[in-house]
Amino acid sequence: MASSAAAAANEANGAGALDRLLTATQPEMERVNALILMRANSHVEMVPELARYLIEAGGKRLRPMLTIAAAMLFGRANGAQINYAAAVEFMHNATLLHDDVVDESDLRRGRPAARMIWGNQASVLVGDFLLGQAFMMMVEAGDIEALGVLSKTAAIIAEGEVFQLAKARDLKTTPDDYDQVIRAKTATLFQAAAEVGAMAGGADAAGRAALRDYGRELGLAFQLVDDVLDYRGESGAMGKNAGDDLREGKMTLPVILALADSNPAESEIIVAALGQADANETALSQVVAIMNRHNTLGRTLDLAHRHVRLAREALAPLPASAMKTLLSDIVEFYVNRAY
Ligand code: IPE
Ligand code: IPE
Ligand code: MG
Ligand code: MG
Repeated sequence: MASSAAAAANEANGAGALDRLLTATQPEMERVNALILMRANSHVEMVPELARYLIEAGGKRLRPMLTIAAAMLFGRANGAQINYAAAVEFMHNATLLHDDVVDESDLRRGRPAARMIWGNQASVLVGDFLLGQAFMMMVEAGDIEALGVLSKTAAIIAEGEVFQLAKARDLKTTPDDYDQVIRAKTATLFQAAAEVGAMAGGADAAGRAALRDYGRELGLAFQLVDDVLDYRGESGAMGKNAGDDLREGKMTLPVILALADSNPAESEIIVAALGQADANETALSQVVAIMNRHNTLGRTLDLAHRHVRLAREALAPLPASAMKTLLSDIVEFYVNRAY
């Protein structure tokens, strides 16, 4: 009885679907992981040292798994999905190295961020190396259209990060601005990961569009949940510090909605903490209390739920298959995750 209840809970929160997707993609993901390690090599010692430190810490590998799953879905994979998956994970890791410098974050994947060990300069440069390697792998796959999708993505991610930086501590930031930021910095890479996977899998134009929409909506939900976890999550589970967004003055939806609904006394508390690098636990918990009063974390999660519904709907035109069911079930993990 107890174990069937546990299994049901596992299904409801998406953990079961994640396990099934991990199993289904495992043989190809092993090839992807081998390629990732190989392409992190360099005769300049500090490059593989720093890169492997981040790569071997793991990470969820959600984006490359999406590429592999999308290619499997269409059943005529040409092998390019391995290169695309590794390239997508390299792009992701490059943005994490850069992002931790920009955000002055101390913790990543449960370890001190690379910048805490090798410094900001080396983190930026090794990020550039990974980006270069990502492009080499895309070029080697030999499809100029997929190269177009991924290179456009690299530019859009950087634009999104810059736009977010420009909006830091800007109390006039709107939910629309925030939507623009997360579409660019996060959703584009999920979208591209799914789209190039579909391309390598032999999808027609409609299949490719379906996976593009699915990836984008999943990416939006993913970032919304990430921004909730930054206020509500456990640093131990996440492997990164909760409260970073507040300390950085990042205008995420929970804080935008809280500012819009708060009375003058509440606004004063939020504004005083926003962007204070040394904001303490008391300041953070006062802000979270205001958010709870106005249900802004709950409303942010509601929006994430809306995006995963759209992700599921994007798959609707595709023929039934075991992989389609898996991609549809996995969305639960994106909204229920604690890490
Ligand atoms: C972190 O992404 C960066 C965001 C877009 C919020 P992940 O949570 O997928 O990072 P890893 O790869 O699992 O560490
Ligand atoms: C992640 O953004 C970086 C990109 C998506 C490029 P965040 O700054 O929100 O992610 P974490 O919280 O540091 O992982
Ligand atoms: Mg960050
Ligand atoms: Mg974050």
